[in-house]
Parts: sequence; structure tokens; C-alpha cells
Amino acid sequence: MKKQTIHPAKYLTGGVEPPGDKSISHRYAMLAALAEGTSELRHFAASADCHSTLDCMKSLGAEIKIDKDTVRVTGRGAEGLKSSWRQLDAGNSGTTIRLLTGILAGQNFTTKISGDASLQKRPMGRVVSPLRQMGADIRAREDNFAPLELRAAKLRGIHYKMPMASAQVKSAVLLAGLFAEGVTSVTEPALTRDHTELALEEFGITVEKNGSSIQIQGAGGSGGEKLQARSIDVPGDISSAVFFIAAASMFPDSNLLIHNVGLNPTRTAILDVFASMGAALQVVSLRSAHGEVVGDLSVKGTSLKGGIIEKEQIPLVIDELPMLAALGPYTEEGIEIRDAKELRVKESDRIAALVENLRRMGATVDERPDGLRVEGRKAGRLRGAEIDPHADHRIAMAFAVAALAAEGATTIRDADCAGVSYPNFYNDLDRVAER
Ligand code: S3P
Repeated sequence: MKKQTIHPAKYLTGGVEPPGDKSISHRYAMLAALAEGTSELRHFAASADCHSTLDCMKSLGAEIKIDKDTVRVTGRGAEGLKSSWRQLDAGNSGTTIRLLTGILAGQNFTTKISGDASLQKRPMGRVVSPLRQMGADIRAREDNFAPLELRAAKLRGIHYKMPMASAQVKSAVLLAGLFAEGVTSVTEPALTRDHTELALEEFGITVEKNGSSIQIQGAGGSGGEKLQARSIDVPGDISSAVFFIAAASMFPDSNLLIHNVGLNPTRTAILDVFASMGAALQVVSLRSAHGEVVGDLSVKGTSLKGGIIEKEQIPLVIDELPMLAALGPYTEEGIEIRDAKELRVKESDRIAALVENLRRMGATVDERPDGLRVEGRKAGRLRGAEIDPHADHRIAMAFAVAALAAEGATTIRDADCAGVSYPNFYNDLDRVAER
């Protein structure tokens, strides 16, 4: 378990390119495995999570060849998956287990799937419940946790009104819908990332959208549309780019270019949050790629105002909240996060992990059941400390950034957990941080 020491910096300069988007990479890998023929997925996420998905798809019969960040997946058609002799391992990845559960629910064989200690603590009832309504035969530990066992079942389409705003739940139901008889639709209570809808269309499946409802026709079971292999580029991950946006914003002399960032409108709410806090952020080029939007970002240093993040903003910036909270002490008014109890069931209890580590660095923090309030600059400058990321990649990276503007060095324990989404993070950060 590697420790990483972060020394204070003067500013950020130069250019950086985040790894391929984790959410999109999972979806392309799964759909490519369900397509007939070979898909080429370029700039595939380097993340350990996406490699968990590749391993699972391989165990289910897809042929997978990895050459640096290009992944070639040869699928055997939507009905061509085969049973795995061993239990599938989703590692640390909630997206892998929840989306795959949707796919596995409609197969004609039994699969067991589990993950690491953190994943085994995360709620699975949210996908098990709608999938059972579709006819799935799923057993779960305490009816809510992995390991999950999915037995052969014939699914039927349902109209699912989601009780929560979760892209993973929406995706699990839609993917199960591929194997169901008839129409499957999902209605979201608030907008969430739409990569599954875009990826399904990209791989040849018609997706109908009507307001907050998304609908597909069962293809696998009833012989409708077939998924087609694709040659496709994955945009850079905006949720990884955010660490550099935050880091550059902290220092008046920063001037950083972040290349090839996915700017899907269901992911860019974080840019609006930064803009509302006064960040000097500009999209300097914009192009479209396979239904997704991609651009380069220019970030200059500024004085951030801070503010409140709440309500329907939350699902749209859920993965960026650790970075925003850790930035709080460097803002004028501090940062307050409300309506985000979901943070307690992520890779760690992120509210508790943020509060604990912010306090270790000397911040003034008020913990709430569904969020936290972090006092701004007036409460004093942060000092270097030893950070315990609780094996959570986004906590480790958020505090590596906060450490750049602290007084004295910071040590991140178990720092390699960043590899869950961004294996080269500390090198990239070091390269653009001027000391
Ligand atoms: C993801 C959805 C979000 C997000 C996660 C990735 C996805 O989870 O936090 O990192 O790829 O669909 P929820 O759907 O649980 O909000």
C-alpha cells in the first residue's frame, strides 16, 4: 500500500489529458461483448474498475485484446454469452456489478457476481427490485448485498418509475430490457447521465425518449434489433478532469489546458458550479464524437467564491462532490453540500471520509446526515496532514489537490487506490504543478 507525499505548489501550468471516461468505457465494453463482431474501443479508461468489467465480459465469453489504451472486444451476439465457471468479480466497481446484473438477469444460465469488501457493503436492492419485477430470479445476501446469484429467467418489459435518481439503476433496467419480451421503459425523478442511452444508439439499438422517460424494445429475447460492433473513441473523463480544474483554480498564476474532456450535457453541471463560483474556465474547442461531446478546457487561477450545492444538482455532480468539499477551505464563503445522503453509500462513506480528513488538515467542518458545510478561507489555511482515503479513489485525489495549497507536506495513505479511476494521477498532477 503505497504512501504518496504531496508538497505545496505555486501554480499549475501546461497541459494534461484525463484518462478515458469510466462510465462510457464500462458501457462500450458491455455492449461490444453483446454485439456480433469485433469492436475497437480507443482511449478506453485505464481505470481498475473498467478492467473489472473487461474481466467479467471475458469470463462470459467475449474475446478481449488490450493494446495500451485500445481494447478490441469480439462479441458473440446478444444471445451468445456463456456461463462463467467462476464467480464474476466486479472489484470495487458499482457500475460493473449493477449494470451487469441487468444483463445477467435475462440469461439462460446461472451467474454469481461479487466484489471487494467496499462493494459488498453497497446496496444492490435498488437494481434487484426492478429486475425482479421483470421476472428475474436473483438472490442477494440479506436481500440487498453482493454476492448476488442470478438464475436463468425469462424477462418481460416493465414501466419502471425510479424512486431515486441513479444512472446505474436506469441502465440496469434498460440493459435487462434488451433481453425482455416487449417494451421496457424507465422514468427518472431527476436527470442523470445518459451514456447508456447514447451507447445503445451507437451500437444500433433504437432508444425512445419522452421527457424524463426512456424506452427500448426488447431485442435479445424477441429477435428485434441486433447490436453491431463499433470502432469508437472514448472521451476523457470529466470526473477526473475536475481534480485539475480545482487545482488550477486555487492559484492566481495558474494557466492549464485540459485536453479531450467529455462534455456530455448530463455531466457538465460541475462546470456550471465552478462558473457560478467565479472560476476562470473556458471551453476552447468543441467537437462531437459518437453521440458524445468532447472539448478542451482552459483553466486559469482565480478567487473562488464557494456556495451551496443541493437538490437536483446533486445527481449531476455526485462524483465531483468530494473535490468540491475539499476545495471549500480555499473559497471565500466556504462550500455547503445538501441533499446528498447518497454520498454515504459510495466507494466509502464519503461524507464521513471528507469530514475526517478535512479536520485532519485543520478545516472547520459541520457534518450533516445528507451533506456537510466546510468553512472558507477566513477559518484559516489548511496544513499538511496524513490523509486516510478509506480506500476511496476520489477521496485520495481530492486531498492530493487540497494538499497543493496547504502549509507543509501531506501524506496520502494507501494512495494507489486512485488507480480505481486514474492510475497515473499523481504523475500527471506532479507534471503540471510548479513548485
Ligand atoms: C455511474 C453513476 C453514478 C456515479 C458512478 C458512475 C454510472 O452512480 O456515482 O460513479 O456510470 O452510471 P449512481 O447511479 O449510483 O448515482
